[in-house]
Amino acid sequence: MRTPVVLITGANGEMGHGLIEHFRRQRSHRLVALDLKPLDAALQPYCEAAIVGDILDQDLLQRLISEFEIHEIYHLAALLSTRAEYTPAIAHRVNVEGTLNLLNLAHEQSRWHGRPVKFLFPSSIAAYGITNVETKAVAGRVRESEWNFPTTMYGCNKLYCEQLGRYFTLHYRQLAADRHPSGVDFRAIRFPGLISAVTMPTGGTSDYAPEMLHAAAQNRPYACFVEESAQLPFMAMPDAVKALIKLAEAQAERLTQRVYNINAFSVTAGEVRERVLRAFPDARITFDPDPPRSAIVATWPGEVDDHPARRDWGWEPDYTIDRAFDEYLLPTITKYYETQRS
Ligand code: SER
Repeated sequence: MRTPVVLITGANGEMGHGLIEHFRRQRSHRLVALDLKPLDAALQPYCEAAIVGDILDQDLLQRLISEFEIHEIYHLAALLSTRAEYTPAIAHRVNVEGTLNLLNLAHEQSRWHGRPVKFLFPSSIAAYGITNVETKAVAGRVRESEWNFPTTMYGCNKLYCEQLGRYFTLHYRQLAADRHPSGVDFRAIRFPGLISAVTMPTGGTSDYAPEMLHAAAQNRPYACFVEESAQLPFMAMPDAVKALIKLAEAQAERLTQRVYNINAFSVTAGEVRERVLRAFPDARITFDPDPPRSAIVATWPGEVDDHPARRDWGWEPDYTIDRAFDEYLLPTITKYYETQRS
């Protein structure tokens, strides 16, 4: 008999860490972690298996299903927006072909065990592309169906994968004589910029906020690559994990769409610096905007409309900006680097 499991791709990334921590506390799921890099040793005891490998490796995926029966997939592996701009073709392979491989695997697994496979997909505010900062200032809270004109490879990949997921769930092989539902229950969240107190993002364009904070906590100088006035929606990592879990647990009948915005707080880079300085008054944070990266941030909405998520599955963040900084980020990060030093 194969062991029934939840598969987490990109498990060694920021969100993977948060998710595995969550499941560890719940003790509710048996996890299989997949990542290009070895999973942090501290997380390995909480997984049935921690596999080092590539989501583009079909043989590896086949070996995986010979051993495990997959009931839920958190497909977190991706090349983020800045990195993807340097290698767009590879980004497309990882972000799109990788997702297609996982969707096919979910379909195949559902055929085997006869139950739907939930497929949780982190999409992004990068799926939006607002023409310029002036328009962004008046766009207000952007809804899922608005401004779907991403300017980055990563944004294009995410937007297309949302559509792929919807296709698998609703229209898979619609012309086949023996048409059956694919068995893939795709659910996606367009995440804002994420800030964790214990991990650092790699290769993103919203990374300036976490970078500012982590540099200050380690007493390193930091030059921010966007202007002080640059505004984006952000979220504390525990809320991001909570959102994925809540959406996974939502009753299918209640979901009126497959892709949801979620909001916590919107903040300018200047405000992030002020908050960081309150906790670390000696922090050396300056602004040295990099025009191309700033231009990407300018195309992403300053705020998103998340009323469908609130209505359909009860989304509500725990962390306002005050709570995020005062009760999660600052105390946790201070303790984290103290432990690292000792
Ligand atoms: N945080 C991501 C990035 O900056 C956006 O989803 O690429």
